[in-house]
Amino acid sequence: KLYKVAVCGATGAVGNQMIQCLEERDFPVGELRLLASERSKGKKLTYKGEEIPVQVLDENSFEGIEIALFSAGASTSKNFAPVAAKAGAVVVDNSSCWRMDPLVPLVVPEVNPKAIAGYTTKGIIANPNCSTIQMVVVLQPIHELAGIERIVVSTYQAVSGTGQKAIVELEGQLKALHEGRQPEAKVYPKQIAWNLLPHIDVFQDNGYTKEEMKMVLETQKIMGDDSIKVSATCVRVPVRYGHSETVNIATKKKVSVDEVRAALAKAPGVKVVDDPANLVYPTPLEAAGQDLTYVGRIREDISQDKGIDLWLVADNIRKGAATNAVQIAEILATDYL
Ligand code: A2P
Repeated sequence: KLYKVAVCGATGAVGNQMIQCLEERDFPVGELRLLASERSKGKKLTYKGEEIPVQVLDENSFEGIEIALFSAGASTSKNFAPVAAKAGAVVVDNSSCWRMDPLVPLVVPEVNPKAIAGYTTKGIIANPNCSTIQMVVVLQPIHELAGIERIVVSTYQAVSGTGQKAIVELEGQLKALHEGRQPEAKVYPKQIAWNLLPHIDVFQDNGYTKEEMKMVLETQKIMGDDSIKVSATCVRVPVRYGHSETVNIATKKKVSVDEVRAALAKAPGVKVVDDPANLVYPTPLEAAGQDLTYVGRIREDISQDKGIDLWLVADNIRKGAATNAVQIAEILATDYL
């Protein structure tokens, strides 16, 4: 069966990648409708060698659509995901808008694919935050092995997570610096080139940013265990594609590095790249354009009895957003629609 698919936010960094993922993975697309704002009127995008005009999103955009992939920001999702669902589409939403709604499943196919069944209530499935996705893909097998009690994570997040405009800002600032001009900061509150910012999304009353709290709450929801304690610090770095993370975990049962490595070696969506003696460890440049989450620097935490340290890297636009959404759509198509 072929499906009528819409991509809402098709001209954005993630939307563009969604179109590419549908093509690469040969998703059974019968019709592809590309939606964006007024600003994109007249634009055309290419899918399987065919030019498709971008349509301006409105109340009637989802007529006949069966699967709608959204990545056009939280306010667009808030207003239009219910419109798409009402028109009969199943929405896979990449924004933060619906993630913590108890009636909306929050899904990483390698971790909790069965949660997809819950889509029938609202017609919406939420795609988690990029940093959360790559972390739970790696931590779920360790949780099954040893029981995770607490996670302390620091992220090193690429500018592409902010959208196309942030990639342009980083490149513009680097060019200005090399030409001896004063770089301009519009997207971020401070210069991102030759710098980094311990600030992603807005600050909250408890001192954490919203991005950091997404990692806490979404991890518990996806792994289905509210007792897992999480403390996160999220940092924006001048990298184009690929989020990296240092993750320190405390486990209930003591496990060796070899046991962790063996569990990760057979985990879906994970690739162990860990041979420090030969300078082998993952980096964002190497993870960019790939769909796996790479893990290296696996070691026992010398500061506690039952703890492991890890280094994770994944492409935030692919596994962190578009690929994960298309994987969800694939399961929907195969098992539910
Ligand atoms: P447009 O290109 O027309 O502005 P990014 O995350 O890279 O910034 O991309 C955001 C995506 O969401 C773009 O495709 C953008 O379209 C789309 N978008 C943003 N606001 C709206 C809106 N109000 N209605 C429809 N699409 C929107």
